Amino acid sequence: MTWGPDYGALEAADPQIAGAIADELRRQRTNLQLIASENLTSPAVLAAQGSVLTNKYAEGYPGHRYYGGCEFVDVAESLAIERAKTLFGAEHANVQPHAGAQANMAAYHALGVGHGDTILAMSLPHGGHLTHGSKVNFSGKWFNVVPYGVRRSDELIDLDEVAELAREHRPKVIVAGATAYPRTIDFGAFASIAEEVGASFMVDAAHFAGLIAGGVHPSPVPHADVVTFTTHKTLRGPRGGTILCRAEHAKAVDKAVFPFLQGGPLMHAIAAKAVAFAEATKPDFAEYAQRVVDDARALAEALTGEGLRMVSGGTDIHYLLADLSDLDLTGAEAETRLDAAGISLNKNAIPFDPRPPMVASGIRVGTASVATQGMGPAEMVEIARLIGRVLKAADEVEAVRADVAELVGRFPAYG
Ligand SMILES: Cc1ncc(COP(=O)(O)O)c(C=O)c1O
Repeated sequence: MTWGPDYGALEAADPQIAGAIADELRRQRTNLQLIASENLTSPAVLAAQGSVLTNKYAEGYPGHRYYGGCEFVDVAESLAIERAKTLFGAEHANVQPHAGAQANMAAYHALGVGHGDTILAMSLPHGGHLTHGSKVNFSGKWFNVVPYGVRRSDELIDLDEVAELAREHRPKVIVAGATAYPRTIDFGAFASIAEEVGASFMVDAAHFAGLIAGGVHPSPVPHADVVTFTTHKTLRGPRGGTILCRAEHAKAVDKAVFPFLQGGPLMHAIAAKAVAFAEATKPDFAEYAQRVVDDARALAEALTGEGLRMVSGGTDIHYLLADLSDLDLTGAEAETRLDAAGISLNKNAIPFDPRPPMVASGIRVGTASVATQGMGPAEMVEIARLIGRVLKAADEVEAVRADVAELVGRFPAYG
């Protein structure tokens, strides 16, 4: 018996699943991966994620478990906690949330938000996440959600509006962070507003956690009561979530994750998070993070040259939001056409979008994966040309597909 992933055994036991994994690996190797929330983990992260730690039940926390035999998973979780605290300069870390959505749910609970309580969070059509108050999500169903948005004039968060809404509605929690807002957020200003109205301040750093770790993005940790993030986006770890908080909230956060929200933690994922946190302290991670933001800026500039309008005029982070109205294309049409050419990204609503979200007027284009592959600003100019060709002429799809394969072949994923 081997200790880690044995693809030969999988192929023999279950050729259909082995085939799906092999096909997905081929897709990741041959497509241009521009989905803003995805990345390519290291082989070390994959090894921890695919390890025998998946076999272990460990309800509780290191040193306080409801199961025997936890001495080695305790080592893994303690390392993950200490590394997360050091990486982000946080007083407390909980590394157990199965995903970002669970991290947010636990954070709300830890901050005392219950049924009918008011939260002030970014409006979904302006870039907020489902867990920030969508009507179809627990947050929208259980909480009284007051949304704030961006200004029509410059598509930036309107802090005056945030302050006015906070004074009027006295929310229990103010949330900053988004899924489609390509600019840095003034965490200090949000914290002042929260303090003024007696609200807790929560930052959802799901997208930009890796940029904070890499030193190319301001940190919300000194300003916020609680910071949640996903470990699989710019941070380049396994799929999962983590919560950072001030010491005063530590107990409430831990209780909110277990036993309130979750049962047994995924110890293999926690070990993989520990590996990713350690990787994020290395100089080559800082170089990667710098490349991510340099690439996003270069891509925004080059796509502007192809006739796409950048929402807010550009980007400070790892993705851009482009309005396709001037090309007379919807986001859905662009996503389908680009997919056929081997370019993976997602359609996205733009602020004040007249179209429904499943059609949308824009696309969101991320650079984390291509930066991991080593592509720099020069390649972003190539990518913008490829995107421009496909968007301007549907009959270019086949030719662009070949050019995508050539470009990706120069920067192999899992080479
Ligand atoms: C801002 C934000 N928060 C939370 C999440 C949820 O993460 P997960 O998909 O791991 O539940 C996402 C996912 O895209 C996100 O963009």
